[in-house]
Amino acid sequence: MTAPSPDESVRPLERGLAVLRAMAADPSPRQRPSDLARETGLARSTVDRVATTLVRLGLLRSDGRDLLLTPRVMGFGNAYLASCGLPEALTPHALALADRLDESVSIAVPDQDGVRFITQAPRRRSMAVSFRIGDLLPAERCAPGALFATRWTEAERDRWLTRRRTDPLDSGFPAVPRRTGTGDDRRAEAAVIEADSIETGSIEAGSIKAGSIEADFEERVRTARETGLSVDDQLIEPGLVAVALPVRDPSGATVCALSVVSHTSRHTATSLAQHALPRMRATVDAMEHALSRQTPPPPPPDTVAAFDSSLKEELGSGFLQSLARGLDVLRALGSRRGAMSLADTARATGLPRATARRALITLQHLGYAAAEPDGYRLLPRVMDLGFARLSQLTTAQIARPHLAALVAQVHESASVAVLDGDDIRYVARVTASRIMRVDITVGTRFPAYATSMGRVLLAALPEPERLDHLRRVALHRITPHTKATVPALARALAAAAGDGWALVDQELEEGLCSVAVPVTDDHGRVIAAANVALPASRGTADRIHDTVLPPLREAARRIGADLAEVARFTGSRIR
Ligand code: PHB
Repeated sequence: MTAPSPDESVRPLERGLAVLRAMAADPSPRQRPSDLARETGLARSTVDRVATTLVRLGLLRSDGRDLLLTPRVMGFGNAYLASCGLPEALTPHALALADRLDESVSIAVPDQDGVRFITQAPRRRSMAVSFRIGDLLPAERCAPGALFATRWTEAERDRWLTRRRTDPLDSGFPAVPRRTGTGDDRRAEAAVIEADSIETGSIEAGSIKAGSIEADFEERVRTARETGLSVDDQLIEPGLVAVALPVRDPSGATVCALSVVSHTSRHTATSLAQHALPRMRATVDAMEHALSRQTPPPPPPDTVAAFDSSLKEELGSGFLQSLARGLDVLRALGSRRGAMSLADTARATGLPRATARRALITLQHLGYAAAEPDGYRLLPRVMDLGFARLSQLTTAQIARPHLAALVAQVHESASVAVLDGDDIRYVARVTASRIMRVDITVGTRFPAYATSMGRVLLAALPEPERLDHLRRVALHRITPHTKATVPALARALAAAAGDGWALVDQELEEGLCSVAVPVTDDHGRVIAAANVALPASRGTADRIHDTVLPPLREAARRIGADLAEVARFTGSRIR
């Protein structure tokens, strides 16, 4: 951070966000507290207290001596994406355009002197780089950047020139290949020398050398201003071409850019523009219409986020309450589209106004929020907190820590499965280290009707579909205990639907029983099932009821919450 912290800034919140940012920026998902101390410049004891607090808030997870970000961290980026209102209004149009053109389409917003992706509608083609929601590109290296730069103030242009000078090879942009190759290097070097020769004050336009990266970009900005569009002819890497148009809100401000991306094996930059522009323009019209029709947001809910205050009592000085409260404020700003007043923020978080105000000042100082006449608004920089990286987590990676905690509690194996055709398919599994255990691996399939997870998944279907399934599949008596008639299974599914769980006692394999509950998303839709499997000898009804079912339900709730957090704007599917 360049500017010094304002007096009112909340230091623990600054430090907590510094730790999350350092975790997100490191190429390895695992970090040791000592590494974090080095990267953030914080004292080791400070890192420990910050990490303890973040672990208790469910934002970091410790695994041995390592720390990892949890999917819950995506809640911050999700807060930005919800409050800006753009994905909600525009993503369906981007997806439709990608279908019509059969090319990748993206939406990006300006983020300081960078360009941040908020929607990706990719085509399944091998393209060397493909960007994720949350990735940040240097403005001068992509099509949207020149469009956004047409609106830069002198101060914003200076910020860009300073960044070019201090990071000529784009190492601060991990999503793009670093500038290499002699041409780029030479040009980057020339720019450094040129910029270094300017002693003080703002850098004059005349100081930019013809043929430099800076001069090329300024030329592209001029063209964007004149033509209203921008083209990327392999600025990121050989082969990648793109064309972008600005999307304006009803006030006429450019809020984002719509890009169509292709490859030189299919299009030159010029032929892509000719091919895509008519449909892109129609899409931009539809997008601008959608933005003009967005109704004013309803008032924010009374309480949206508040960490569990018992944590402070439990952990005493080891828990940084002002960090927890500040993160509540960040999340609260996502509860409503547009800006949120100080009074609403204080009400939503249950914090005194003075406390909420200091947290907001801190977020503003760090570039995560902007003060506007009607309150505070989240900024896309919030996505730097691990959004792109965490969006790549697989279902197994998301579920495994929760299954492991469950297994540690019940000492039996636990799994997550989805319905795949007429079967269930295992997507995550953690085995108990007992000698006698049930051995199944990820990818294993079983007929849904004969398994507890299959029964809760089938129970979630509308009744006609359940019956359809039972009539369509061949029912076998896999063991002497298997229910293999339509009426018996229809009763079992109705019971599972009513109870919210299912028990299968030696119906799939003799000596094996399994209890399952549904995993639901934030709308209560069943998206998967979780189970505990155990030898029938240990599966008494009492044990299952009293000691297995409650922690199984809790694990399923946590898995569902994490899956929903990851999928909320990325649309990622359970795999
Ligand atoms: C992309 O969406 O991947 C994209 C967009 C614009 C560019 C390059 C890539 O200039």
